Amino acid sequence: MRVLIIGSGGREHALAWSIARSPLLTKLFVAPGNPGTAALAENVYLRTTDIPAIVSFGLAQKIDLVIPGPEAPLVAGIADALAAAGIACCGPSAAAAALEGSKKFTKEIADRAHIPTAAWASFTHAEEAHEYIEAVGAPIVIKADGLAAGKGVVVATTLDEAHDAVTAIMEDKIHGAAGALVVIEECLVGEEISVFALCDGEEAVYFGAAADHKRVGEGDTGPNTGGMGAIFSPPWATPEVVEQSMARVIRPALREMARRGTPFRGFLFAGLMVGEDGVKLIEFNVRFGDPECETVLPMLASDLLAALQAATNGTLRDIKLDWRPGSAATVVMCAKGYPGAYATGSEIYGLEEAGRIEGVNIFHAGTCAEQNGILANGGRVLAVNAVGATLREALSRAYAAIDTLDWEDGFCRRDIGKSALHA
Ligand code: AMP
Ligand code: GLY
Repeated sequence: MRVLIIGSGGREHALAWSIARSPLLTKLFVAPGNPGTAALAENVYLRTTDIPAIVSFGLAQKIDLVIPGPEAPLVAGIADALAAAGIACCGPSAAAAALEGSKKFTKEIADRAHIPTAAWASFTHAEEAHEYIEAVGAPIVIKADGLAAGKGVVVATTLDEAHDAVTAIMEDKIHGAAGALVVIEECLVGEEISVFALCDGEEAVYFGAAADHKRVGEGDTGPNTGGMGAIFSPPWATPEVVEQSMARVIRPALREMARRGTPFRGFLFAGLMVGEDGVKLIEFNVRFGDPECETVLPMLASDLLAALQAATNGTLRDIKLDWRPGSAATVVMCAKGYPGAYATGSEIYGLEEAGRIEGVNIFHAGTCAEQNGILANGGRVLAVNAVGATLREALSRAYAAIDTLDWEDGFCRRDIGKSALHA
């Protein structure tokens, strides 16, 4: 098969790394890719949202399967455009990608499909949102409806914070059109997990559970990021929790999407709260998580490409996935200043030596290659993954790799997985 992966982060490097081993593969392209994917595939310079250019490339290169990593091209309709050109795509249509593109849509699907989720209301007038907050009280969660680069959610512990969030989103329009509507919901308590399922429109196969670390600072402090590290699997993702997530969240959502005539294909990512009364849906994403993908894929023993092909063809019921024993952890190395302003261009030394440590896989995210060196070229720069017999071993290998790297301008959280070790 001739395969094209869309994206340039650690997630796409991990997808390329896993697919490169498939006996089904004949040629792999990544657009635009990064220096990590360049070692496994041919990088092609196409912007991830330049859908006409991606379709033309797919036709010219006789691509059999396109695998979009990030949500933006999916929400923009890449799967629809590829389908119209006769090219298979392992990702949802724009209509099905609304599960990530609109929080209100997700809540409507949840209610219709009886998926447990936080009580909610939505508003297009700030005045009514303020009144609702006064009536319901704090803590309360305020969300911009549309895509806001992961920054559209405020978990308000006081009424003042909640009112300020409504003002910022609806009146000051800090997220632009994404905040024209807000969803306001009950604050859930418990432990968060991300559960992944590969879907073919009808069937869903469990594809791992991970815990992300969203805040930039140790002890879960400071602003939110795209994710500072992840573990597979957290101890609170028990077999019962996984079973409940599939039975009460993933499969009902899939049935409801199919009933509406917009079946969901690709990776469905459920952000869940595990509380005293079971699993509740926080949000859906219509793609694999990053850095969860870098954490889950090294644990997969089965052929990823065969599974993605089955999801695309509607033959997932024939697929059974095998997983390696043990645990995995990923620690993200970021440029100092991230998620605020950061500098680019500093050189990273020691990558080869760090990558030779047993169980370690170093995935590139925001890097670029220059002469013989690798330079930092983004906020999240490297996803340092390790597998091990236990979570403790995986973490100690990942941190040993990080300690082998020599990169003055980088930092990471030193407490990835710590709460799971003590759970
Ligand atoms: P999201 O951007 O939807 O992933 O939300 C960001 C984070 O906000 C989630 O990972 C949760 O930690 C938190 N969050 C969102 N909704 C709720 C809720 N209803 N109750 C508690 N925390 C929430
Ligand atoms: N790490 C969270 C995400 O990919 O959305």
